[in-house]
Amino acid sequence: MEYKNFLQLVSKRKSCRNYDDEEVPDSLLEKCIEAARLSPSACNKQPWRFVIVKEKNTRIKIFKKGLLPFLPMPWFMKAPVIIALCAATEFTTHKFAPMLSGIDYKLIDLGIAGEHFVLAAESLGLGTCWIGWFKEKKVKKILDIPKNIKIASLITVGYPVDNEPNTKEKLPLDKVTFYEKWNQQREK
Ligand SMILES: Cc1cc2nc3c(=O)[nH]c(=O)nc-3n(C[C@H](O)[C@H](O)[C@H](O)COP(=O)(O)O)c2cc1C
Repeated sequence: MEYKNFLQLVSKRKSCRNYDDEEVPDSLLEKCIEAARLSPSACNKQPWRFVIVKEKNTRIKIFKKGLLPFLPMPWFMKAPVIIALCAATEFTTHKFAPMLSGIDYKLIDLGIAGEHFVLAAESLGLGTCWIGWFKEKKVKKILDIPKNIKIASLITVGYPVDNEPNTKEKLPLDKVTFYEKWNQQREK
């Protein structure tokens, strides 16, 4: 794939907060998971697990009991699919390595896999939105998720109502890139 095509896909993605009623076939969701399961992971532990939630009653329960306050997400119920992006936590690497390095590898792994999922969804014409503002305990209970599994994020999925470009302001390259040392810009 050429860089320009890749960049086009990445630039087109935006957090979708308005979904069409059309159902999303499992085959498409599985394509997204296929892209996610190919992600790199610390020590190749592949801690990602995906719970696909389509049942309206379950989505209502998550909407009513599983979201945190102060950030209303009335559009949440418009999404026909909720993915609970989960992390298996039993791996020794994930338990002990962070004690030495201070890095939570499983969350990094989940972030990578989640974004693979999101970009695959984008390439299939689906909209997505990461949802980090949820009550993990409540959602775990609603979905029967065992104790040793962590929900890293929820992701809403569905066909977007509009195809407007992403207008969110993003930091320019020179604000986020340094050469050799912190805060050192490239010599012009
Ligand atoms: C880890 C994470 C958690 C997020 N949680 C929420 C959320 O709870 N509710 C929401 O509406 N958007 C959420 N977002 C979406 C961000 O608000 C959005 O990505 C950001 O504003 C940039 O906009 P864009 O995705 O359209 O480029 C989350 C995004 C990430 C990556």
